Amino acid sequence: MKLLNADIRGEHDAVVHYLTHAWTVAEVYGTQIEAIARDEMRHLKWLAHTVVSLRGIPDLSPREVIPACDLETAVTQDIAAENEAIAQYEDHIRQILDTKVKDLLRRIVLDEKDHRRQFEDMLARIDDNVTNPNEGAAPVAEVAQNLQRLLSYEYRQVLEFLFRYFVEIHGQTAGMGDEDRAIEEMKHLGWVAESLAALGSTPSWQLAGNNGTVIGDQTDELNEYERVLQWAQRENPKMVPMLRRIIGHEQYQSLTLHTRLWTVGSLKQTVSHEGKD
Ligand SMILES: [Fe+2]
Ligand SMILES: [Fe+2]
Ligand SMILES: [Fe+2]
Ligand SMILES: [Fe+2]
Repeated sequence: MKLLNADIRGEHDAVVHYLTHAWTVAEVYGTQIEAIARDEMRHLKWLAHTVVSLRGIPDLSPREVIPACDLETAVTQDIAAENEAIAQYEDHIRQILDTKVKDLLRRIVLDEKDHRRQFEDMLARIDDNVTNPNEGAAPVAEVAQNLQRLLSYEYRQVLEFLFRYFVEIHGQTAGMGDEDRAIEEMKHLGWVAESLAALGSTPSWQLAGNNGTVIGDQTDELNEYERVLQWAQRENPKMVPMLRRIIGHEQYQSLTLHTRLWTVGSLKQTVSHEGKD
């Protein structure tokens, strides 16, 4: 169980890093890196289901934030990350006895090796003239802060919905389930991060209010979106449809969610009661 949770944390790291790279540095390879990040999300999901099936609790604690860098550094880091992941999986395959789990890890390693090949290919094709498209652009300070807070809300909600989806026993519900909600929040996270990058800011995954403190409820989130919407209507009309769509999603969420979401604090507490090996 400990090994699988280490693998889950590794996949979570990979998702955070690759998405950050895709949004901020890689106008050339953005879509390709995003596709790799989606593979890592699927790995995380398979591992989490496996942990739950073994009566453990998947570790979804928020991951460290990496600083922004240029494309070449980013891709070099990504190759190193894939190498590390492959080595870790191969080590775990040797240590784990359960054959079904071994087979799953071998299946994941296939993907990681292909990711490594893709990143090596990107590195080989990087043109020296490709620089960070955001370099030199002055961030629009206030709205960037609003967007940054929204990104934190969205990231927290992704983790909360994923956690509910992995560990809760689900009855038949009409309409959206927690997995769909997690995916919806991932989309919001991506749109907000892309808007930040377009404004010359580097999206940060920091959950606002560290030490497990709550950063606000859904009303605060909606108010924040309304403020950004008002700004966009004046200054950046291209963002308006995206913001209206997110606000509509969030309103539907508050209509359909009858139970209170976990706070990051309680999520961490739950997570720290790790299952036995
Ligand atoms: Fe992976
Ligand atoms: Fe990978
Ligand atoms: Fe959202
Ligand atoms: Fe939400």
